[in-house]
Amino acid sequence: MNFNEELACRTRQAETIIGVYLPKAEGFQKTLLEAMNYSMTAGGKRLRPILLQASYEMFGGKGRVQEPFMAAIEMIHTHSLIHDDLPAIDNDDYRRGKKTTHVVFGEAMGILAGDALLNLAYETALRAFDLEPENPGVPRALRILAKKTGAMGMLGGQSVDVQYEGAAPDRDRIDFIYRLKTSALMEAPLMVGAALAQAGPEAVDACEAIGRDVGLAFQIRDDILDVTSTTQALGKPVKSDEKNKKATYVTLEGISRAEEDVKRISERALKTLDALHVSGGFLRELIWDLVSREK
Ligand code: IPE
Ligand code: IPE
Ligand code: MG
Ligand code: MG
Ligand code: MG
Repeated sequence: MNFNEELACRTRQAETIIGVYLPKAEGFQKTLLEAMNYSMTAGGKRLRPILLQASYEMFGGKGRVQEPFMAAIEMIHTHSLIHDDLPAIDNDDYRRGKKTTHVVFGEAMGILAGDALLNLAYETALRAFDLEPENPGVPRALRILAKKTGAMGMLGGQSVDVQYEGAAPDRDRIDFIYRLKTSALMEAPLMVGAALAQAGPEAVDACEAIGRDVGLAFQIRDDILDVTSTTQALGKPVKSDEKNKKATYVTLEGISRAEEDVKRISERALKTLDALHVSGGFLRELIWDLVSREK
């Protein structure tokens, strides 16, 4: 199997696992449940669950305890996207090639669907205890997941991102925002996979460093595509950053410097990965593939 075939296969596997943990839309709160499922099933690269699975395997994990965590990280990520698109935040109308949740279901339902997905993520991750009640990696993984999502992770980053809309670009602040809003949700799956496979603390730390660089490179590439791509190709609006007067890495450094840095930062992630001396062949190729991603 070549890399593209393997990625397609892993994406399908992630989709199947996510599907198992989605709610049935029925009862009085049917609309809420439909709104949650709407964005979860709209497509998307499933990158975070794929990273989690790859990390778990790389550290010798052989069970199925990672599966609820794969669904959970995608729920947290999707919650972050539904809320990121709200009128009060980026005010964007398209996501994953479809109208955004708040456009289809209304703003109140968009807020609630995001909240409910965040909560469902923890309900889902907790099911790992049913699968492997004795695995000490499960509580470690839950701690990582919770921390990387909250005010010290993704949500903290989103808050600084909106607070400084319209402000002049500042490299330290941009690095801080990207580390939190984007890297935190790349660090989490790599660290969770390692913890569930019961890797040691040094390995989990290395996963954090790899995730940080993968996330920084990913967000810079996202900023580049916001300027150079099309809504059709991305499945979400382009020029969103300009519309929101957002100082990005691209505004600060220009496109060609930003492209060089995506490569340089990704190479640094690969070096950290190589120093682990584990069989991370797929992860290696994935990190490299993301450097030139077009969506
Ligand atoms: C979008 O994430 C948000 C950013 C961190 C830039 P993705 O580009 O992974 O979005 P999906 O999941 O594929 O839709
Ligand atoms: C958002 O960054 C990262 C999140 C935590 C959702 P962006 O606002 O640039 O993400 P997109 O471009 O809307 O996907
Ligand atoms: Mg945003
Ligand atoms: Mg946005
Ligand atoms: Mg963006």
